[in-house]
Amino acid sequence: MSKPMGRREFLGTAAHGAGVLGAISMLPRGAAAQDKPVRVGVIGTGNRGKSLAGTMINIPGVSILALCDINAENLAAGQDLIEKGGQKRPEAYTGDDYAYRKLLERDDLDAVVIATPWHWHTPMAVDSMKAGKATACEVPAAMTFEDCWLLVDTQESTGTPCMMLENWSFRQDNLAVLNMIRQGLLGEIMHCHCAHSHDCIDHWFFDTDGNIRWGGEYLIKYNRDQYPTHSMGPVLSWMDINCGDAFATCTSTATRSRGINAYFERKFGADHPNAKREYKQGDIVSSVIRTHGGKTIVVNYDMQLPRPYDNRWMIQGTLGLYDEARSSVYLEGQSPKYHEWEPFAPYQEKYNHKWWKDMAAMSDGHGGTDYLELRQFLDAVRNGTPTPIDIYDSVTMCSVIPMSEKSISGGSAPVECPDFTRGKWKTRKPYFALDV
Ligand SMILES: NC(=O)c1ccc[n+]([C@@H]2O[C@H](COP(=O)([O-])OP(=O)(O)OC[C@H]3O[C@@H](n4cnc5c(N)ncnc54)[C@H](O)[C@@H]3O)[C@@H](O)[C@H]2O)c1
Repeated sequence: MSKPMGRREFLGTAAHGAGVLGAISMLPRGAAAQDKPVRVGVIGTGNRGKSLAGTMINIPGVSILALCDINAENLAAGQDLIEKGGQKRPEAYTGDDYAYRKLLERDDLDAVVIATPWHWHTPMAVDSMKAGKATACEVPAAMTFEDCWLLVDTQESTGTPCMMLENWSFRQDNLAVLNMIRQGLLGEIMHCHCAHSHDCIDHWFFDTDGNIRWGGEYLIKYNRDQYPTHSMGPVLSWMDINCGDAFATCTSTATRSRGINAYFERKFGADHPNAKREYKQGDIVSSVIRTHGGKTIVVNYDMQLPRPYDNRWMIQGTLGLYDEARSSVYLEGQSPKYHEWEPFAPYQEKYNHKWWKDMAAMSDGHGGTDYLELRQFLDAVRNGTPTPIDIYDSVTMCSVIPMSEKSISGGSAPVECPDFTRGKWKTRKPYFALDV
């Protein structure tokens, strides 16, 4: 599901020598990191779990001691990867769906990273928090209102840190835009557009031979925005959601479902069982969220029609706007030509976030958004500081899943958004990525 690194992101990293070190503390590579190692267990060593593990072993002071997966091949591949990376072969936990609980019983793990199929995220994160392990969970951390609340209640009652690994919050362009917004360049923020446009039919919902994978099961059973967090990630901090403003209502509308059948007809013939199967999931879901402060957000789910990857972020205020697809900005009174776009690149350089500047100063060759995200999480664990994304923002991003489902099934009726902060949004101050 991860998109290949975008050209701008790649250039932003490579042009600076590809080093990455975006920590809260910017610990010197030797002393402090070695003084206080962070010991990690990973649950789920499929594609994403291996990728996260491979990134984490490049972070100074981080050791991966244990892995869990029910698939022996994926588990062994994960162990091999850690060993080849120069660390001791991690202990393996497997056998049944709950083998992860044995991993959680270890008393030598500081943090647990979860990268399993969606329906396992909430139960595993809850168990991990109850076991006292700082928890980082892949997206989406929850898929129902009940699971969102379970995560909030467990985090509050245990006090154990828990964040969802929404990597697009950490992108270099998105963090520069956050700096611009915080410095008032866009004026008062009014409106945002975002999307997750990523054709995942031929490699993720189904395998390349046309067999259904676990993700594809959701397309048969549900009609909703299945994967809103990559769209929403940067938007939350751009719009001060849960920190002065909050989602109020959500209205969602879905197209009919045609893309999956059409794909199978094209590729495998009209007689293929998946060409004839009925899918509940509409091809495009458009949701409109209105905030208590009167802002609006349009979010699109778009994962089953043939197309290049796109997020179409656009954020607009009383003084101008940023448009990711055009890689452009227009700032009233500042852009050289009245009502004409100007390139975003000089602004990204000027408002480059400290985390990315710090990365550029390193030269260890490990560049990227995932590194920054994991580094931020693991430094928070090491230092006992709050996770870069908290539980309220984590579940708020996820809440678009059940809200859109409810709205679509009610004929696009407005759905009231739950207040996971229980009113705290009115006084909470922005906290994400404050070091500029
Ligand atoms: N943030 C991103 O950019 C990004 C990118 C890709 C995937 N993801 C997310 O990562 C997660 C994993 O996706 P993936 O593509 O790696 O899927 P995958 O199918 O490749 O891997 C999932 C792994 O979990 C294992 N598993 C299933 N049930 C288990 C259980 N009870 N205990 C232990 N292991 C179990 C499977 O055997 C498999 O190895 C998904 O939630 C996905 O949305 C995020």
